[in-house]
Amino acid sequence: IEPDYARLSKWAADYVINKINAANPTAEKPFVLGLPTGSSPIGMYKELVKANKEGRVSFKHVLTFNMDEYVGLPEEHPESYHSFMATNLFNHIDCPKENIHILNGNAPDLEAECEHYEKMIEEAGGIDLFIGGIGPDGHIAFNEPGSSLTSRTRQKTLTTDTRIANSRFFGGDPNNVPAHALTVGVGTVMSAKEVLILCNGHNKARALQAAVEGPVTQMWTISVLQMHRHGIIVCDEPACEEL
Ligand code: GLP
Repeated sequence: IEPDYARLSKWAADYVINKINAANPTAEKPFVLGLPTGSSPIGMYKELVKANKEGRVSFKHVLTFNMDEYVGLPEEHPESYHSFMATNLFNHIDCPKENIHILNGNAPDLEAECEHYEKMIEEAGGIDLFIGGIGPDGHIAFNEPGSSLTSRTRQKTLTTDTRIANSRFFGGDPNNVPAHALTVGVGTVMSAKEVLILCNGHNKARALQAAVEGPVTQMWTISVLQMHRHGIIVCDEPACEEL
């Protein structure tokens, strides 16, 4: 538990930097990082960009896999997760373009795209560290309430709650938020060697309570982290109000 969002972001960035540096990755043995979008990781990304510029960490031998992407939203749309990642991280660090993986929500065959994504993760040797946020309803990536806890990468229909929550990025109208997304599964996240979840703000307090104090249930998909051998939640004080 960190006092505020700035300290949470710094803590998370330092954790990632130390992990990458300790692994001492090479072209033959890269470090494999799972990455989220949303407002929660923005502070951490700023810290990572700064550290990269100051030479405290390099992403040259880091492979990245993003959690999710909207279906049918053009990649160049400012709210696509492709755009988000370019703006907040990839345009500012030394990670080679060919190391970056983001699901293609415009692929002609979405099922094949998801299968191929899982295969690429497997071929990379699995994810060393998966970083994620949580939705106010406890979803991880776009694994909405009711998602199978063993699910792999696939297409999901977004709930009305999520479309309302994300409408702040789409001119305030939930109807402008795509209705579907491609997302790694709960099982995909759980297969990572480590999982680090960022949780800040009072609007996440109920989700954090369900995650930490509730039973493991597919209705709060983040709760499955209780079963992970190396799952960490870094949160700020306001997110802890229901604990
Ligand atoms: C979206 C993303 C999730 C993210 C969630 C919370 O639904 N698919 O990966 O965790 O938003 O977003 P925020 O961090 O903006 O609260």
